[in-house]
Amino acid sequence: MRAVDLFAGAGGMSLGLKRAGFEIVQAYDSWEPAVEIYRRNVGPHVWQHDLKDIFRVGPMIAALAPDIICGGPPCQDFSAAGRRVEGERAALTRAFAMLVCIARPRWFLMENVPQAAKSTAWADARAMLVKAGYGLTESKLNAAFYGVPQARKRLFVIGRLGEQDGFLESVLVAARSDRPMTVRDMLGDALGDAFYVHPRHPGKRGVWSTDEPAPTMRGSSRRPMPAAYQPHPADAALIEAGAFFTRPYYEGRGVRTLDEPAPAVIRTTRERPRPKYLASPHPEDPMPAQQAAVLTQDQVARIQGFPVGWRWEGSTSRDIDQMIANAVPAPLAETIGRVILAREAGETIPEIQGRFGQWLRQRRGFSSAAARNAKSRVNRARRLLGGRTFADPVAELAALEAADGFASLPPGTRSDLRAALRLYREWKDEPKGRRSGKSPAGAAATLAA
Ligand SMILES: C[S@@+](CC[C@H](N)C(=O)[O-])C[C@H]1O[C@@H](n2cnc3c(N)ncnc32)[C@H](O)[C@@H]1O
Repeated sequence: MRAVDLFAGAGGMSLGLKRAGFEIVQAYDSWEPAVEIYRRNVGPHVWQHDLKDIFRVGPMIAALAPDIICGGPPCQDFSAAGRRVEGERAALTRAFAMLVCIARPRWFLMENVPQAAKSTAWADARAMLVKAGYGLTESKLNAAFYGVPQARKRLFVIGRLGEQDGFLESVLVAARSDRPMTVRDMLGDALGDAFYVHPRHPGKRGVWSTDEPAPTMRGSSRRPMPAAYQPHPADAALIEAGAFFTRPYYEGRGVRTLDEPAPAVIRTTRERPRPKYLASPHPEDPMPAQQAAVLTQDQVARIQGFPVGWRWEGSTSRDIDQMIANAVPAPLAETIGRVILAREAGETIPEIQGRFGQWLRQRRGFSSAAARNAKSRVNRARRLLGGRTFADPVAELAALEAADGFASLPPGTRSDLRAALRLYREWKDEPKGRRSGKSPAGAAATLAA
């Protein structure tokens, strides 16, 4: 898929999407230092330009005819760390939506802080996108479950033309790792030009060169590295300290051990503890802040998903800290990118959510076996539809009729599949309180209780 990246910064999102298999055809950012870093590390397809200039940029992007527009509009006006006054930067979330509406790619992907979900800027942007025909999946994802050792929660909105809302939610959840990644996991991965993957059987090989294909990664692969391996001196100091200090938000904890994720990276993450903090440390600090390591810029960049060797030179240290803090961690963007590509290729279908089976039994009098059959027919219809869900029920049934292989099914099977999709739609369209499947008397009793 061909992608345009708006508000591309130093390229975290672009890097992740490229790794997933997207071709980034054009990127935009108005900040020269970020554009320079992007150009050097991601590619020459970046233009330093103000995205408020919609008259100029809109037609330009439309002419590129991308399959997806992605972007992380500035978040400072919404952010917990800021004053939360919606000004010009919040308006750029509207600009993002306008540019999507002008170019009308099949997909879009927007990233912002979770607080943006409640902003008037997003309410305006959302209304435009819905009006333009996009179904939305609005998910708050924690980066620690998507490949970086950082408890960073961000709002991701994925839109696809014609879909029902929530169409990608179940696969995004399924793509989570079963536990959060810790800083020690990351250090265990970074051994110069080799990395450590915990071997399946004792005595088997654990260290691999980055020049050769990695062994299959499993849930248990990320384990602490054995003491015999030689890490970078800065990493060695961090491992020896066993804990690190990051500038806390408000009254938050400053010291973390290596066996937990870092908190969300901000521009000042690697500041040393201030006298005020040292005089009144957080009661849950696992060790005194003076004894904890202070992260290097390179370590913070890696915690934010930038690979070792990302070329930051040429910018001030403060600007680099800002670009790192701004970024979407590339492994997280890569996972979302893979989820999008798999759906585009028809390789995944949305899971049936909620209590559809219970509703069939209790409201429609289905037996348990008949309810199970109806669910598996919805799934079969979805597979024939290549994973698509349709906001418009007529379009959904028309697409099913036209789907490869549908016409050759026996007439009884075809009508069962149509009926299952209709039932599922009826259930989804029920007001939330009635979806539980409880009979009206049962629901009233629950309310009374
Ligand atoms: C949250 S950061 C995006 C980070 C990026 N997605 C990444 O993964 O590295 C927002 C970016 O918007 C840029 N920006 C702010 N105002 C802009 C404007 N008016 N036009 C274009 N870019 C702007 C900033 O320079 C910043 O790089």
